[in-house]
Amino acid sequence: MKLILIAAHDPNLVIGKDGTLPWHYSEDLKFFKRTTIGHPLLMGRVVFEEIDEKPLPGRENVVLSRSKSYDHVKTFSTIDAALDYLSDHKKVFVIGGGEIYRQLLGQADELVITEIKKEYEGDTFFPEYRDQIGKTWKETWREDHEEFSFVKYERVVGSLES
Ligand SMILES: NC(=O)c1ccc[n+]([C@@H]2O[C@H](COP(=O)([O-])OP(=O)(O)OC[C@H]3O[C@@H](n4cnc5c(N)ncnc54)[C@H](OP(=O)(O)O)[C@@H]3O)[C@@H](O)[C@H]2O)c1
Repeated sequence: MKLILIAAHDPNLVIGKDGTLPWHYSEDLKFFKRTTIGHPLLMGRVVFEEIDEKPLPGRENVVLSRSKSYDHVKTFSTIDAALDYLSDHKKVFVIGGGEIYRQLLGQADELVITEIKKEYEGDTFFPEYRDQIGKTWKETWREDHEEFSFVKYERVVGSLES
């Protein structure tokens, strides 16, 4: 199973503010959809509440929570249990939020990042990974747009650090 973190961050690694996204870029939402469609999504409870507890269609939604469980989506109280459940899939997309990215960066095989060019105020951040580009992470694909760039990084085989 390939574990892929997919996130959009600003130049300061801001990803969220007050439990929601600080921005709205419809092209990024379309990119997110076409990248993840058909693959399972792993998310924290706060993200699941952000989407009004409505699973994103065309993808199995799996939620991490120590305090809640839902009848309509698989919920796990540990990351290991969730990853075990998802282990037969070819690709699993981790869609946040900050707490979940932080815990899974070290196990990720790939990062799919939307680099937002403008700076935003925020209270939630993607974990630092840019100091490891060229060491742990190798840029393998980039598509530049006016307001953001889509970038893929793959873990360098044999690297131990995140
Ligand atoms: N820009 C982006 O790409 C992007 C993507 C996603 C999210 N976001 C933003 O990020 C923010 C939300 O992130 P967040 O860090 O506040 O919350 P989060 O990561 O979505 O969820 C945190 C919750 O997940 C559960 N959890 C965390 N670690 C766990 C573990 N090891 N085992 C079981 N459950 C675990 C806990 O739920 P319980 O409290 O129920 O135990 C915890 O409170 C929002 O502002 C959102 O808009 C941005």
